[in-house]
Parts: sequence; structure tokens; C-alpha cells
Amino acid sequence: MRSNYCGELDESFAGKDVVLCGWVHRRRDHGGVIFLDVRDREGITQVVYDPDTVESFAIAEGVRNEFVIQVKGRVRLRPDGTINPDMATGKIEVLGKELVVLNAAETPPIQLDEHGSVGEDIRLRYRYIDLRRPEMIERLRFRSKVTNTVRNFLDDHGFLDIETPLLTKATPEGARDYLVPSRTHPGKFFALPQSPQLFKQILMAAGMDRYYQIAKCFRDEDLRADRQPEFTQIDVETSFMDEEQIMAIMEEMIQHVFKTHLDVDLGKFPVITHAEAIRRYGVDKPDLRIDMELVDIAELMQAVDFKVFSAPANDPASRVVALRVPAGGSLSRKLIDGYTDFVAIYGARGLAWIKVNDIDAGVEGLQSPIVKFMSADVISALMQKLNAESGDIIFFGADKAKVVNEAMGALRIKVAEDLGQVKPGWTPLWVIDFPMFERASDGSLTSLHHPFTAPACDAEALARDPVNALSRAYDLVLNGTELGGGSIRINKSAMQQAVFQVLGIGPEEAQEKFGFLLDALSYGCPPHGGIAFGLDRLIMLMTGASSIREVIAFPKTQSAACLLTDAPSVVSEAQLRELNIRLREPPPQSE
Ligand code: AMO
Ligand code: AMP
Repeated sequence: MRSNYCGELDESFAGKDVVLCGWVHRRRDHGGVIFLDVRDREGITQVVYDPDTVESFAIAEGVRNEFVIQVKGRVRLRPDGTINPDMATGKIEVLGKELVVLNAAETPPIQLDEHGSVGEDIRLRYRYIDLRRPEMIERLRFRSKVTNTVRNFLDDHGFLDIETPLLTKATPEGARDYLVPSRTHPGKFFALPQSPQLFKQILMAAGMDRYYQIAKCFRDEDLRADRQPEFTQIDVETSFMDEEQIMAIMEEMIQHVFKTHLDVDLGKFPVITHAEAIRRYGVDKPDLRIDMELVDIAELMQAVDFKVFSAPANDPASRVVALRVPAGGSLSRKLIDGYTDFVAIYGARGLAWIKVNDIDAGVEGLQSPIVKFMSADVISALMQKLNAESGDIIFFGADKAKVVNEAMGALRIKVAEDLGQVKPGWTPLWVIDFPMFERASDGSLTSLHHPFTAPACDAEALARDPVNALSRAYDLVLNGTELGGGSIRINKSAMQQAVFQVLGIGPEEAQEKFGFLLDALSYGCPPHGGIAFGLDRLIMLMTGASSIREVIAFPKTQSAACLLTDAPSVVSEAQLRELNIRLREPPPQSE
């Protein structure tokens, strides 16, 4: 139907006859001549119809935005003075000879020919129109190319692309499962995989040695800008490699992707331990584009006459930290109050601060609600420890370690963003030596990664002191986003059972839920490990998009609904009966 894409035409086509197919991006009537900007996936070309071509001129008069048309005409150079430098095809135009309307269009709810903003609900409901925007096409094209590079890299390194089932059994990755009722097994349910974790491990038991998959994962969890209920992982597993080797090859893959598609050299990725990340940045996914760090000052505060600081300073489960914000002294009272409200979200009961107006003037040079509680010596030692300078503001957090880490870790990022102190560029890093477990609010232990992660100690030590046991896990963090996580796995049944034991999963439950895995580990399972990267997050970061919804063709809303298809939706009584399901309450009438 067509000879060329609109976007590929340039001066070299001058004089050539072409056939274009696409959408009417814009129609302009210039007293006697009609200009149609015709758009397809590759770009926009201007087509001119003049009244000499009577029949097509009449059709051109009748077309409207987003009509699908076929244009036959001849490319010509634009006359001097009408060249459009903002358009890739701005040096040429097509003199239209024939025009066929392939399909008419209603007035679109999203105007593509202007930069007006339209709500995300409308964009998702009419996604096929939203996706016609060049920005969206570019992101999906970029995603396709990156995926291809990843596939080629892994293929070149001996990884086999193997599909794993979507109708399966629950794999615990910390979220709720999406369940699928079984018709043939009344009362029983499949779970959609939260990740292919167990299957990829079993592929190692099966001797596949190196596996990868661009895998759909499903998690029913609270959604955010970087979380979708259905998302895609670059999922990898290998046998007979230790963590350094796996990290090295994956680092090479990410470096290769950035070099190929952004011409960016990421350089060697630094490695820091989980404990160090928490100590210096308050979080396990530090954004190293920000220089500020949390500094422990408990030692200085043990004897001060300010209970808010001295009590946690003397409690090993608490922390007292300072965050020095260079040039933050200009922050207004109103902004500081705003930050106090901000840290309260994380449970902080206050946000003490000191403005350093003049560092050389001692206490006189400081402005603060708390310096009155401290001796000149303590203040001087504090200023020295923090390398404080005139013009700084220093924020303080004092509470249980978890509250301080979360509140001050988040404040560090917020203040840096507000003051423009996030440096441009890319700061990848590996975080290692995670604890095996964390304590849930009910006191029980849960896996920090997943229960198949190998501990760095033996089973005996694990049972003796599970809280302090470290794992052989590693996360890849980029600019403050967790891009990927993986680990060396448990490959022996006894160790797997020891971990289940710590998690409160007794032998019977373990057998019922994970018997197939325990069996696989018992029939000659090699040492193995792997990793999974969030493909959506990788593309979001690389394209500078504000959310992973911007790099997914058909994403779901914050409440996990698809506005395009109106899923999830009510099903018929007959379907439910077939599945042996009766609803507790009749579904609410659709809104
Ligand atoms: P994990 O749960 O850390 O590990 O997931 C790996 C990566 O997947 C991405 N990710 C998500 N992206 C979008 N929306 C979500 N809801 C979402 N959840 C996770 C993140 C994350 O780093 N089986 C293990 C991997 C392994 O051990 O090999 C796993 O799934 O970028
Ligand atoms: P107060 O004496 O309670 O008015 O507190 C004096 C200053 O300490 C105020 O600026 C409070 O915001 C701050 N503050 C109170 N509790 C904490 C805390 N747990 N961590 C840090 N600062 C706090």
C-alpha cells in the first residue's frame, strides 16, 4: 500500500513519486491550498494539495485530524523561506496527486497536534491514541531495541531462553498472589508467578546450566510509580558460578546496554555492604548522585541535657544522626516545617535543626531550637565532626534505628531534589551482605529476599542466630532505584529446610508447598545462583520517564485496573458455577 514511511523522506527523494499511508496529524487551509501533515510511526511529512487536482482537493477539504489516508504524490524541495528546521522532513514536501481516505475518525479525545496536557485516565482509556504520540512510540521502540540487545548478549554468553509456566503454584516473593481458579480441579487454584524463581532453579537441577527469560511477573501489591501488578523481568540463572562471577557478567551486560543505547560508559560498579548503605544513606538503595550522608553522632549526645537525643544515644537499638545540607541555611521556616511533616510520615516525632550562619562565631553564629540544650564543647565537636560551614543547615534524627533510617534517608533525597543537589549522570552500585531475615511487626522473621537465598553461614549458625545471619544476595541499584536483585541459592535440601524452620514453616507445610523443590534439591542439584532485573524500571531510567507506566504499552492504574478493556470485570453466574465458585456478596452494580 505504501512506498515509504513519512519520516524517512528527505532531499534525496526530490523528484520521486511516493505513496504514503498514515494519519492526518494536522490540516491547514491556506486560501486555495490545503496542507496535510501526515504522520506514521517514523515521522511526519507535509503534503500539499492545490485546486488543480480537483478530485483529491475536494477530498482533502473533507479530511479531519486522525483520518487514515493514503497519499500518492511527488516529493519536491520546499521553496526558500518555507523550510521548517524543527521538522526532520522540513526541507521537503509532497505535492499530492491522489488521496484516498482509508478510514474516517471521530474527533479524538487526545489532541495530538498540540502539546496540551490530558489526564492519565484519558490516556489509558484511549491508549491507542496516546501511543500514537511520537514520545510514546520512541519509548516503545527504545524498549524493543534494549530487549533485543539483552537477548543477544545473553545468547552470545550461552544462556538458553526457556519459557516457564504462568499457571503455576505460589512462589513467595513477598507480595500477594493473583489466583486463577481451576475448572477441572474444583476448589483448587493456580497462582500466577510472582517470578519464575522456582522454575529457574529447577532448570539448574535439570542441567540447563545457563537460563534466561524476558518474563512476565504478577504481584498483587501496593502500586507506585515504579511498581505495576504485572511487570517484566530480565530473569537469569546460572550453575557453577559464584556471586563475583555472576555479578561480573551481569555488570558487563548492563554496561553493554548503556554503551549501545545511550553511549554512556558506566565504568566499574562500586560494591558496598547493606550495613554500610543503611549507615551512610539510611536506605538499601542509595542514590549516589547525592553527596550528603547521614553521620552518627550518638557518642557526642550521650550526656547532653536534651532527652530527645540522649535517650536514643544510649540505646543500642536507636540512632542519633545528623544530615548536613550544604547551602541549606537559606531554607525558610515554612520549608523546615514542611520537612518536619515529611519525616513524620516515617514515624519521626520531630526534626531538630541548626542553621550555621557564621561558623567562626561559635554558638553565637548558630540559629536553632536545640543548641540551648548543649554545651559549647559538644557543639564545637559536632561542628567539627560534620565539617560544617557557614550557610549550612544541619538536620537531626533521633529515634529507633528503623525510624531514623527511613525518615532521614528519605529526607536526604527530598532536600537534595528541592535544592537541586542531585548531580546529573549515572551512579550504579552493587549492595551485598544483606541480612537473611528481617523482623515483621508481629515479631516473626521474614526473608529479606526470598526463602531460597543461600546464607553466608552454615545451618547450625543460622539456627543459632538467624537475626544476624547474612545472605549471599546482591542487588543492583541505579540512581536510587533497585534495578535488580539476585543471590546464590540454597542447593541442598537440609539447608532449605533449616531456612524454612526459621521462617516458621514446619516440615509438613514445607512438603506441601515446596515438596517439589526439596525433591529437586535431593536428586543432584548443582550449586547455582542468578538475578532478575526489572526491565520496565531499566527502560524508565534510561528514557528519563517519570513512571514505568510510561514505558509499558498497556499499563494498569494505581488501583490495578485496565481502563482500556475495563478489566477486571464481573463474570457470569454460569462461569462462576462452572468454576465451583460462589461469591460471598453479590458484586456491586457497575459504576
Ligand atoms: P525481586 O523481587 O527483587 O527478585 O525482583 C527483581 C526486580 O524486579 C523488579 N520489580 C518490579 N518492577 C515493577 N513492578 C513491580 N511490582 C516489581 N517488583 C519487582 C525490580 C526488582 O529489582 N526471583 C527474584 C530474583 C532472583 O533472586 O533471581 C526476584 O523476583 O527491579
Ligand atoms: P522539643 O523540645 O520537643 O520542642 O524539640 C526541640 C526540637 O527537636 C524541635 O525542633 C523538634 O522538631 C526536634 N525533635 C523532637 N523530637 C525529635 C526526634 N526524635 N528527632 C529529631 N528531632 C526531634
